[in-house]
Formats: sequence, C-alpha cells, structure tokens
Amino acid sequence: MKVVTVSSTKGFNKEIKVPGDKSISHRVAMFSLLSNQKSTVTNFLEAEDTLNSLKIAHTLGAQVEWKNKVLEITPSKDGIEEPSEILDCGNAGTGIRLYTGLLASQRGQYILSGDKYLNSRPMGRVINPLNSIGAEITARDNNTKAPIVVRGSKLKNFNYESKIASAQVKTSLILAGLNGDGPSTITEPELSRDHTERMLKGMGADISIEDLKVTINPLTKPLEPLNINVASDPSSGFFFGVAAAITPNSKVVLKNLTLNPTRVEGFNVLKRMGVKVEFIEKENVYEPIGDIIVEYNELNAVTVDNKISWLIDEIPALSIAFALAKGTSVVKNAEELRVKESDRIKSVVNNLKLCGVKVVENEDGFEVTGSNSIKGATISSFGDHRIAMSFAIGGLVSKTKMTIEDTDCIDTSFPDFFEILKDVGGLVS
Ligand code: S3P
Repeated sequence: MKVVTVSSTKGFNKEIKVPGDKSISHRVAMFSLLSNQKSTVTNFLEAEDTLNSLKIAHTLGAQVEWKNKVLEITPSKDGIEEPSEILDCGNAGTGIRLYTGLLASQRGQYILSGDKYLNSRPMGRVINPLNSIGAEITARDNNTKAPIVVRGSKLKNFNYESKIASAQVKTSLILAGLNGDGPSTITEPELSRDHTERMLKGMGADISIEDLKVTINPLTKPLEPLNINVASDPSSGFFFGVAAAITPNSKVVLKNLTLNPTRVEGFNVLKRMGVKVEFIEKENVYEPIGDIIVEYNELNAVTVDNKISWLIDEIPALSIAFALAKGTSVVKNAEELRVKESDRIKSVVNNLKLCGVKVVENEDGFEVTGSNSIKGATISSFGDHRIAMSFAIGGLVSKTKMTIEDTDCIDTSFPDFFEILKDVGGLVS
C-alpha cells in the first residue's frame, strides 16, 4: 500500500506519450493464440493487467519473446495446451472474462482466478450465456464469482441479445462463436468498444457487423498472425487531458492515441463543457490513430446520460472536472459503474465529499455542483487505479495537498503515471 501526496502545478504546455492501450494489449496476447504463426507487436502495455494476460498466453503454450522493445508471440503448433497451474488474471476483468470465452471451446480444463477485487466482481454475465450454448463452466457462489473452472466442450451456435453494453461480454461470446457449429450472432443495447471485431477481422475472421449485431462464422482455419504497433491508451491519456482542462494556462498534446470513437467520448464531454479539444487523425491501422490536443478553458456543467460504456473508465476523472465547473453536472443510467474495479459511484461520491464538493449519490449515477476550487484531502483509491489517478489529478489544482492512499493499483494499467504527473509540474512525494 503506497501513499502519495500531490500538490499543485502552475500550468503546463506539454507533449505526452502515454503507454500502449490496455484493451488492445489484452486482445493481442489472447488473439495471437488463434493463429499458428508468430505475431509481432510493438508498444504492448507493460502493466500488471496485460502482463498477466501475456503470462497466461505463455502458460497456454505460446512462446513469448522480447527482442528489445519488440514482442514476439509464437503459439504452440499443437494449439492451446492444458495448463498445470491456475491462470492468474490479477485485477483484470477483461483478462478473466475474455479468457473464459476463449477457453470454453478448447480441449482441457482451466481454472481462472484473480485478486480479492476481481474475485468479488460479477462473472455470471459471461458464464450464463456461455453455459446456455453448451459450455461447461462452474464458479464460486452459484456460478457468479471467480475462481472459475472451465471444462472445454463442443459449443452450439447462438443468437444472444445482451442486456448490457459490455465489450467484455461481447468479446467473450465472439470468441466462443469462432468455434460454434454454425453462424452465431450477438446483439448489444448500445455499441461497446469494438477492438475485438476490428482486430479479428484484420486477422481474417469471418465477422460482419450490422448496427448493433455482430455475426460470427466459425473458423475454418487458423487466423493470420498480428503485426501491430499498439496505439497509445486514450483512457490513460485522459487523465492528462483533464489535468490541462482544469489547470489555467495549460495545454497538452497527447500523442498517437487510438481515436476509435468508442474510446474518446470523455474528450467529447470535455468539449461539451467548454474545453478546447482537437482530434488530429494521422493513420488508420485496424483503427484510426492520432493526437488529441486539450487546452484549458472555463468549464460549464454537463449531463452525461448515454454512451455510458464509452465513458465507463473516464467518469472518475470527469468528476474532477465537474467539481470545478459552473453549475450542476449529472451522471445518469450509469449503474455499470458499480461493478468496475470498485463501485465507482461510491468511490467518487465519498472522495469528492472529502474534498468539500457538493455531491449527491443516486442509484444510477451522481450529481456534482461545481465551484471554483476543491480542497485537498486524504482519499482512498478503493483499490481502483482510475480512482487513484483521478484524485491525483485533482491534487494539481486543490487548495491544499491531496493524499492518495493505496496507489499500488495504478501499476495495473499505468506504471509511469507519477513520472508524467511530475513532468506536468505536479509536486509528488
Ligand atoms: C474493456 C471493457 C470495459 C472497460 C475495461 C476494458 C475491454 O469493460 O471498463 O476497462 O477491454 O473490453 P466492460 O466491457 O465490462 O464495460
């Protein structure tokens, strides 16, 4: 448990390169197992969550080699191998839910588990639909919590209508559908992040998309390997976007992010609040990639009540901007926030209250009435990296020091976070 204190910056003008995207890096580790040739990867996110997924790929038989900064993943020519050890997903919901879908149709038995936070999060959302198509998956607490035991089996094809917009649920089923016994479909209520569809199509999978429905045809041969430079992570970059948005005389250029529309909505919300935001697309490999420029401006309150899955990782940092905006900002229809790395509604509300901010908790969100300053406080991360980093950013402008308890969780997604925070002028001790 690390405790960190952050105090203010006078404003900054910086170009920042944040590490590789977490969602894409998880998928790189897993999808490379669906080929029979070597995948070559640069800018893979070297953080706990994604390194756990990579370690699992190795435990499942892939050879993993780093040549300088180039990662090579060569799957076993015998396909996925039954492991003799538990597959430890650490803190990663993406890791455990996607691997569950991937392994459901493989030969052998697999036990997936994680840390105390992950093992208390809901897993029925992937276990139930997978079992309904012939998977043999059991789990603790009446099949709702990890550890999860997957006994690989023959899967049927399916037409599944998901009630939640979740890329983890969608991907878990797409991976199962690749080994179904005919075309399968999954429909979601709102589009969630679509890296899986883009990457698998790029690898040659027969996947088509029509509105909110994804149709998956079973694999007839191994997929092409990946050859990818992972774009930088807009959810990591967003912390410094908010830092520029709330700190007078500040501007930041965030380099080479994925500009996938399902991932940059937080920046659009800042724009709606009055912040100057510019997107500069530079290339398109699997997805659009480019820079985002954010410049300070006075902030106005905003209502956020749709595209919640596009904002699920950004709302904690946005809550800091709400606390400094003119008027009352409202977050609605966001009950999914309650089942992330922490109950993000509670974590945000409790911590904002400690910072002297006027905030009301609702079942499906919260309301924040902004003012022109926040005070520093000793806040808990609740073991959630996004909460820890959001309040550290708040420390850049708080009247007194902001102390964040339990910051080890930041290593799950962004080990360099405090280095960059110092670089933008934050005093970190
Ligand atoms: C992710 C999906 C999101 C997100 C998580 C990464 C992914 O979760 O919060 O950080 O890589 O698929 P849900 O799909 O459950 O909304």
